[in-house]
Amino acid sequence: MKQGTSPQAILRQSISFAPTFDAWREAVRPLLSAAAHPATIDLADTASGVSDSLFAFSARNSVSESTPVHVPRSFIERAKIVACHRSADRWNLLYRILFRLQSDRNLMKLDVDDDIAEFRRLEHQVKRDLHKMHAFVRFRKVEDETGVHYIAWYEPAHHVLALAAPFFAERFAIMQWAILTPDASVNWDPDEKRLTFGTGVPRERAPVTDDFEALWRTYYSSIFNPARTNLHAMRSEMPVRYWKNLPEIDSLPRLLTEAEGRVEAMLARQPKVTAASFLPSERSLPILQQSIHTCQGCELYRCATQPVFGAGPSTARMMFVGEQPGDEEDRAGKPFIGPAGRLLDTLLAEAEIDRSSVYVTNAVKHFKFTERGKRRLHENPRASEIFACRPWLLAELEAVHPELVVCLGATASKSLFGPNFGLMRDRGKILSSPYAERVIATLHPSAILRATDPERAAQMRSMLVADLRLASATLGAKA
Ligand code: URA
Ligand code: SF4
Repeated sequence: MKQGTSPQAILRQSISFAPTFDAWREAVRPLLSAAAHPATIDLADTASGVSDSLFAFSARNSVSESTPVHVPRSFIERAKIVACHRSADRWNLLYRILFRLQSDRNLMKLDVDDDIAEFRRLEHQVKRDLHKMHAFVRFRKVEDETGVHYIAWYEPAHHVLALAAPFFAERFAIMQWAILTPDASVNWDPDEKRLTFGTGVPRERAPVTDDFEALWRTYYSSIFNPARTNLHAMRSEMPVRYWKNLPEIDSLPRLLTEAEGRVEAMLARQPKVTAASFLPSERSLPILQQSIHTCQGCELYRCATQPVFGAGPSTARMMFVGEQPGDEEDRAGKPFIGPAGRLLDTLLAEAEIDRSSVYVTNAVKHFKFTERGKRRLHENPRASEIFACRPWLLAELEAVHPELVVCLGATASKSLFGPNFGLMRDRGKILSSPYAERVIATLHPSAILRATDPERAAQMRSMLVADLRLASATLGAKA
């Protein structure tokens, strides 16, 4: 029994469990079957108030999925995200909602309900934190006698390490890397293709300067030294399970399953340098726009006139990502002002999207061309150039944080979804990525301009307008 002064507090039964979603589920199952009223229960995890909790890897205490408790799948999937919030009251909130769902199947749809509003608020904050972590983790190279390692220190606002780790495993599949946070840490073993979770690193030990060597020596070796016998106990399949169950990230697992080998091959070909080392520490749009002039993340800066950064309000709800600047954009330093831009303007107007309210940018910021006499002919950027330039796009996504991203053409789509994205297969659908909650991929306006068959051009045009209308309706429906 919990100590308290009010009669209600005295009546509340304290239930404690490991700080994981599965442990919470196990704890509430008997409560739910006994119809224990939420007002009589106080759920608190064992890590509350403990800064270096074993949040991630104690998730091994999972229970069999077959225990018969009726809960909507859609609730569970979203609740897993809410469970990563740092709010100590999240466990009680989740139980309250689960309890109420037994008699009210439509509860999740009630926008005006206080519990649901709170649930959404926490869910939104966790997702935002996850996006941020994907965009802002920076690895530093450390070498020791066992080889080359990459290490990052990061302090997420919520317990998102386990949700975020698969993303890094996919992107940096061939590197040996670790991310250390105050709550927990994760290590990727590229040979075994395995994520291992371990304890956190106290905040006061975070590297103040670039001294990652010391952090590496002190913490990596103690947390992840393979010779230590507790390593096995620290392993967990949780991230992969979480990943599968994430409700909105349904377009990405394909990359993981279908493309493991290919992603590795692609990473092996990728240049060691990317734009990341040219990014400023302050990431507001004006500062980014200034800094991009120093970028030498790939060879494209050598021949172009200037980099072309995105344009539009930082508060835009919709962001358009094109391929790269064309001839006119390269001279003017502004995106989408040439023939493709003029067509885009027309199509946006048809879909009732106001160009001045959206943010428009490109996946690659320098113009790539070959010279034919006086003409400069557009050339497609290579996968390595798209990859090299990604940090600028990610920084723009972070600064603008649009609700919806529209990828114009294959290059933009591949920049967000990886090299195996099939534009014609997946265009016109509402997708999700770690960078934006909603993404729609569609054709590039210049594909219409290039089409030689008028019938085909008309068909492409109507596809593009339909996809833009979907974009407009998606935000309209949310407003
Ligand atoms: N095509 C693009 O993809 N972007 C531009 O800015 C212009 C043409
Ligand atoms: Fe940097 Fe992108 Fe220009 Fe390459 S294309 S130099 S990565 S800004």
